[in-house]
Amino acid sequence: MWKIGNIEIKGKTILAPMAGITTFAYREFMRSFGVALCYTEMISDSGLIFNNEKTYEYLPRPEEKRPTSVQLFGGETTKLLVAIEKIEKHTDNYDFLDLNLGCPVPKVTRNNGGSAWLKHPNELIAMVEKVVKRSTKPVTVKIRIGWDEKHINFKELLPKLEEAGVSLIAIHLRTTKQLYGGKARYDLAQNIQNLVSIPLVVSGDIYTLDDAIKALEITGAQAVMLARGQLGNPFLATQIETYFKTGERLKDPSLYQQLDYLWTLANMMVEEKGEHMGILVMRGIAHHFIKGFPFTKTYKVKLTKMSTLNDLELIIKEIKNQALLI
Ligand SMILES: Cc1cc2nc3c(=O)[nH]c(=O)nc-3n(C[C@H](O)[C@H](O)[C@H](O)COP(=O)(O)O)c2cc1C
Repeated sequence: MWKIGNIEIKGKTILAPMAGITTFAYREFMRSFGVALCYTEMISDSGLIFNNEKTYEYLPRPEEKRPTSVQLFGGETTKLLVAIEKIEKHTDNYDFLDLNLGCPVPKVTRNNGGSAWLKHPNELIAMVEKVVKRSTKPVTVKIRIGWDEKHINFKELLPKLEEAGVSLIAIHLRTTKQLYGGKARYDLAQNIQNLVSIPLVVSGDIYTLDDAIKALEITGAQAVMLARGQLGNPFLATQIETYFKTGERLKDPSLYQQLDYLWTLANMMVEEKGEHMGILVMRGIAHHFIKGFPFTKTYKVKLTKMSTLNDLELIIKEIKNQALLI
């Protein structure tokens, strides 16, 4: 057990913020597999300020379970502060305010948001101090290791961020220039937890239980963030949580279990977003659930073209029938 501020976090896995994926339904789905904390996807300060209805849908719902982090992005201190007021007026149903300091997308960094902050450490720290003062919730940040290979500055930043008053730092162990490619740089992150006394969380390339064990051993961090590694493999969270609680190594799920998980998530998405939008989101996610099983390649295309829950049900039936034949 460990704490962020004075809130106890009951596990070693955290659902990473993922734009377009970690919606309300997705967060609730992953909580059922044991993740100890969920982040919303990144939420635009401008969207909040301009009262964009869609932006407000990204915020936690009244029925959201806890703990939850709301992730905010923006490139100007004054706008971030206004956006925090907007969030606080809209909802109290979250535990942490997270600042996105790692997004590499040009649309965001061009406006000085996301990981562009890492290029200006003084401005960054001044902004964080103000945000910490303004937010009634503990503030956390998510960073990358630096802008590019020549400007890796996360180790200098960690104590400064701690001093600025943040309660947790999540580090995606890639540079901005790496985007999502190449390996996460665990080689640069030996014992980084010793650099600060607030908890650290590491993000990058956690696909298996052994990846999680290694990441925590190398860095000394309190938890791992699950991102692409849990897409289509939600049981990874259960495997990691169980291992750290009991030492037991749970077997990977069968194809049948995977199809059940897929069906459950699709129904939750449809409940959240309605059938049309829910299935559109599932088109991008569903095929991950059958990844690595023999003969399933042909179904990948079908899953990316489905339009209704009924389509998905038929595809799942076909896969199960095919599995019976071999
Ligand atoms: C589709 C997608 C969307 C993402 N959206 C966000 C986001 O909104 N905020 C954020 O801080 N990171 C975001 N990330 C980064 C992840 O949280 C995570 O740090 C990154 O994927 C590295 O972990 P991985 O190698 O295990 O995938 C996103 C990643 C992906 C793949």
